[in-house]
Amino acid sequence: PKIAVFASGNGSNFQAIADAVQAGKLKADLALVVTDRPKAFVVERAKKAGIASFAFVPKEYDSKQSYEEMLKEKLQSLGVEWIVLAGYMRLIGPVLLEAYENRILNIHPSVLPAFPGKDAIGQTMASGVETAGVTVHYVDAGMDTGQIIAQQSFAINGRDQRMVEQEIHAIEHQLYPATLQRLFNK
Ligand code: GRF
Repeated sequence: PKIAVFASGNGSNFQAIADAVQAGKLKADLALVVTDRPKAFVVERAKKAGIASFAFVPKEYDSKQSYEEMLKEKLQSLGVEWIVLAGYMRLIGPVLLEAYENRILNIHPSVLPAFPGKDAIGQTMASGVETAGVTVHYVDAGMDTGQIIAQQSFAINGRDQRMVEQEIHAIEHQLYPATLQRLFNK
């Protein structure tokens, strides 16, 4: 299927997806990277990977509805079938949720439903729980509330936040491409 990856930052999950496509492990056509932050490092990564990117500035639009209408046209004109969020720091609104019903995915660095929202790893560490992990889920109107597709967790075992972050990102970079492959080919 044709997919678009939405990202706001570093883009290491975009990179993992692009690498998996390149390696033939993920059968998908990576049509576009969309970012709401034109200076995000993901734009450089897309360029290097030879993938088109599209940057927009939300505050140049009247409303979420108006920029989502613009994005919807863009995606539909390219024939994009799935939206894959990878560190995209905005809630998806009704325009895209309706156009891509059950076709928007997200990855989140906690074992949902625990610790939704921003700084999930910091929340995990501050809470004192003994388990950390990663969730891939469908996107709905809420913040990290959609149906769970895949999860992977591990024991924190006294590790500090930096090490937990490293472990989480390593898991993400495996789990997201593998889950997409499973989902797209069933
Ligand atoms: C990841 O930890 C992801 O779970 C969260 O945002 C982070 C994005 O990292 N939603 P990157 O931009 O893919 O490196």
